[in-house]
Amino acid sequence: MAHRPTVIRTVSALRKALAPFRSRGQGIALVPTLGALHRGHLALVKEAQKRARRVVVSIFVNPTQFAPHEDFGSYPRQFETDMAALTEAKADIVWAPSSEVMYPQGFATRLAPEGAALAGLEDKFRPHFFGGVATVVAKLFTQVSPDFAIFGQKDYQQLRVVTQMAKDLDLPLKVIGLPTVREKDGLALSSRNVYLSELERMHAPVLYRTLLTCAGRIKAGEPIEMVLEEGRLDITRAEFALDYLEARHALTLAPIASLKDGPIRLLVAAKIGKTRLIDNLGV
Ligand code: PAJ
Repeated sequence: MAHRPTVIRTVSALRKALAPFRSRGQGIALVPTLGALHRGHLALVKEAQKRARRVVVSIFVNPTQFAPHEDFGSYPRQFETDMAALTEAKADIVWAPSSEVMYPQGFATRLAPEGAALAGLEDKFRPHFFGGVATVVAKLFTQVSPDFAIFGQKDYQQLRVVTQMAKDLDLPLKVIGLPTVREKDGLALSSRNVYLSELERMHAPVLYRTLLTCAGRIKAGEPIEMVLEEGRLDITRAEFALDYLEARHALTLAPIASLKDGPIRLLVAAKIGKTRLIDNLGV
């Protein structure tokens, strides 16, 4: 039977558990998560194991990245199921601090990321989000001090923000982004997919289908804005309330008018019923 990962709940215990790995010169890779783990998260764990001898998975539903009207209270929490998955995946350490450990009384410092964090995509609809993410991820990076941190491209703007944050703060680690893991019909795996009704689940793959169609047409030289306008219509026709479907520079996330201005990333966010889904694809 696989060895259950050690669950750690305080910063001092974490440092103590990691010290022997470090003194033996074993690499450490961190996979930050909110829990409710699925195959997408587990693909990150697998990649972490390729990069480093020891793997830390953090499970922390970070209150500062949720707005008061969002789903912090109801976000799926399933620690024992996650532990079973991480035992199977052979993770070494599960870093699961409480809110009081992460944000003790008197906590008074927050990061305010700019650049990709102000691209007018997720930030426009969740203005508090990247401040909360950058702050907690910077804390996770200093708590664990990993050699590698593994993220999913699924949250593409987040990946750009976190990569820049690590660089700007001179944190000595490499941030790695992995391709999105999908269901057979193309729907990107997400902990929030459990919120979808049967009918909404049927409609949900339209996001990825639209990204594929738009990417193909843009690659073939059709005008970007026209292609996106038709894509937006396809998404709205499938019962979604669209937040955005945009073509951006893949690194800066700045608006981009033509294929020759750089690598393009298409990014989409839309709500079906009460559930907000995001996805993205390179052109
Ligand atoms: P969470 O949504 O749990 O995602 C944790 C990591 O898993 C992120 O890097 C995310 O991009 C990746 N991921 C999610 N779905 C994926 C999929 N279908 N394929 C591949 N990777 C996928 O993102 C967060 O948590 C939080 O904002 C966090 C970074 C932990 C900070 O609180």
